[in-house]
Amino acid sequence: MALIKWPGLIDVHVHLREPGATHKEDFISGTKAAVAGGFTAVLDMPNNPVTTVTLERLKEKKKLSEKSLCFVGFHFGTDGTNFAEFKAASLDRQVFGLKIFADHTTGTLLIEDLNLIEEAFIAWKSDKPVLLHAEGEKGAELIFRAVRAGRRVHLCYISRKCEVEAVRKAKAKKLPVTTGVTPHHLFLTKENVSQLGPFGYMKPEVGSDADREALWTGIFDNTIDLVESDHAPHTSEEKKSGQPPFGVPGLETTLGLLLKAVHEGKLSLEKVRTLLYDNPKKAFSVPNIPSRIEFDPDQSFIIGKNGYQTRAGWSPFAGWEAYDRVKRVRIGNKTVYENGSFQV
Ligand code: DOR
Ligand code: ZN
Repeated sequence: MALIKWPGLIDVHVHLREPGATHKEDFISGTKAAVAGGFTAVLDMPNNPVTTVTLERLKEKKKLSEKSLCFVGFHFGTDGTNFAEFKAASLDRQVFGLKIFADHTTGTLLIEDLNLIEEAFIAWKSDKPVLLHAEGEKGAELIFRAVRAGRRVHLCYISRKCEVEAVRKAKAKKLPVTTGVTPHHLFLTKENVSQLGPFGYMKPEVGSDADREALWTGIFDNTIDLVESDHAPHTSEEKKSGQPPFGVPGLETTLGLLLKAVHEGKLSLEKVRTLLYDNPKKAFSVPNIPSRIEFDPDQSFIIGKNGYQTRAGWSPFAGWEAYDRVKRVRIGNKTVYENGSFQV
């Protein structure tokens, strides 16, 4: 097939690790991974060792991100004590939402008290969505409370059948809810995860075959709006240690895996564009970024064969056949990436 030309893709959920954990990733290595994977806009999460919960830290992150190769926006964080910062943070043009961790994962930003989370919803007086890490029944409950507080909600990385059902019900009631799914929850089985050991260790964890089927159904019937990579780089050494951290890199493999689903007749090319560009743009009001990617959806490649841009240097999909290697990426009037090399 001829080369496909699309606007640069948008990933609304990445962890670029700067400041505080640049041995895993920084804004340069992370945005190189983004561009090589076809993304020209990424929204970065607040759970760095130095959490993004004050305006000062937001300002610092913005400054550090100036060296990025593509557009970087941020989600503000909360530890339940920083509501006074919300107004100014929500008005910042580089902030796209408020992330709330209601379940345990990497970092310290956990709030388990649902009433305190509800206070955060009330304090976040903005149209920009609250993004929830809330698994199982907690997801349904928090959607209800967020909407009651007048907020828009994005339920992050849904992984279970009951979560798909909760979002489907909320959408049937026309509530302002969006949701995303990661490639690892769509493609990895429990069997894959047990073979991967700590390299398949992430939050939420991969569900059952029935959960995975429900996720695909959620994609087909538009219950699921978008695909988010949850790019969460950790080094191999950390993964092999006695206490492996949660998370897997994903920026360089998301498009290729979805195109594999196109090859298998599961998705149309248009649907891939909807999941990785149109819906993320709409859900988070991402501005127009003049950019273009070119790729050949028929050219397959073996993940990991030519190495990685992410500093993590590994993928849970290593050795899998995927489709496309992004040939060229233009941002503004500059070609920033061509045939595996960066032009910067
Ligand atoms: O597996 C995960 N890793 N899930 C998250 O929610 C956070 C992420 C990380 O920051 O490493
Ligand atoms: Zn995440």
